Amino acid sequence: MEAIRNVAIAGASGALGSPVLHALLQSELFNVTVLARQSSQAHFPASVKVICMDYTSVPDLTAALTGQDAVVSVLTTSAMETQIPLIEAAVKAGVKRFLPSEFCANIGNPKAASLPVYHSKLAIHEVLQQQAQNHPHFTYTLIRNGPFLDWSLAYGFFFSLNGGSTPFYDGGERPFSTTTLATIGRAVVEVLRHSEKTRNRAVFVQDLVTTQQKMLAIAQKVTPDRKWTPRDVSTADMETMARDKHANGMNDLTASMGFFCRSVFGKGYGGEFQEVDNKLLGISLKTDADLEELIRGVLSEGH
Ligand SMILES: NC(=O)c1ccc[n+]([C@@H]2O[C@H](COP(=O)([O-])OP(=O)(O)OC[C@H]3O[C@@H](n4cnc5c(N)ncnc54)[C@H](OP(=O)(O)O)[C@@H]3O)[C@@H](O)[C@H]2O)c1
Repeated sequence: MEAIRNVAIAGASGALGSPVLHALLQSELFNVTVLARQSSQAHFPASVKVICMDYTSVPDLTAALTGQDAVVSVLTTSAMETQIPLIEAAVKAGVKRFLPSEFCANIGNPKAASLPVYHSKLAIHEVLQQQAQNHPHFTYTLIRNGPFLDWSLAYGFFFSLNGGSTPFYDGGERPFSTTTLATIGRAVVEVLRHSEKTRNRAVFVQDLVTTQQKMLAIAQKVTPDRKWTPRDVSTADMETMARDKHANGMNDLTASMGFFCRSVFGKGYGGEFQEVDNKLLGISLKTDADLEELIRGVLSEGH
């Protein structure tokens, strides 16, 4: 495959989209075009070409994607099906590589794949596989990174930032893979640089493997005056609650959290990646000192 030069990114204003856009621009390897919704309030660097799109119009999308080598989708979780016309247009426009908005747990793991929150992403895999089969010029890469490390820390997902009662999922001892937003941005750049070795497959990246207990021990070390009281929370119970809610059409934050925690901390759900592509991508692992730095940073931000 020829080198990827022209890259369109959809959802570039989001929590993950912003650092991915930053990494694409900073690499100076690509001509970057941003696709945004017509209703988007987002602002982008003046140097970037922005096309406001009706994501339902395949002809408009095809026109916008003509000349692009790759599409990176970082669209929000609830807009997975928006990618169906985007993929169709990418195929029609002759795009060579599509990165869907994956960026999650190891949903190739059958237990994780059974969780309803991931079904919309799995449906996109089927569309991609079918299109790649029918159109050999069209290829895809799924990037899996585990929970966002810095983002999840900042939201108090791994431990409560203010001290006090904090959940330990299934005891807080199960190792899991986790990755910062900036590293995921680098992974996107490196996947596009290594297009041949990343074609039509899932690519796994991680900054480190850790546990909630390790994180809380670091938090305790850097803020000795703050006190935490861990409480054990069963991810099996969380999944049951989330499935009940889902069955009743209540796909709220607690339901999503239930599925999310199950995929990260549940036994046999693949939260700790067995094989990673860090070496191929030239991404080294972060150290305990790096983790301490991240935790120190989040705890000093007025919490
Ligand atoms: N592993 C993890 O811990 C983790 C955590 C959160 C998210 N994720 C995954 O990361 C990916 C990106 O999520 P995110 O949280 O960064 O997304 P986000 O910030 O919620 O949204 C990303 C962008 O999507 C566009 N958008 C929003 N609503 C849309 C709609 N209805 N139709 C089309 N576009 C819409 C917006 O861009 P414009 O305004 O520019 O159009 C928005 O800035 C998703 O696949 C998500 O599942 C993973």
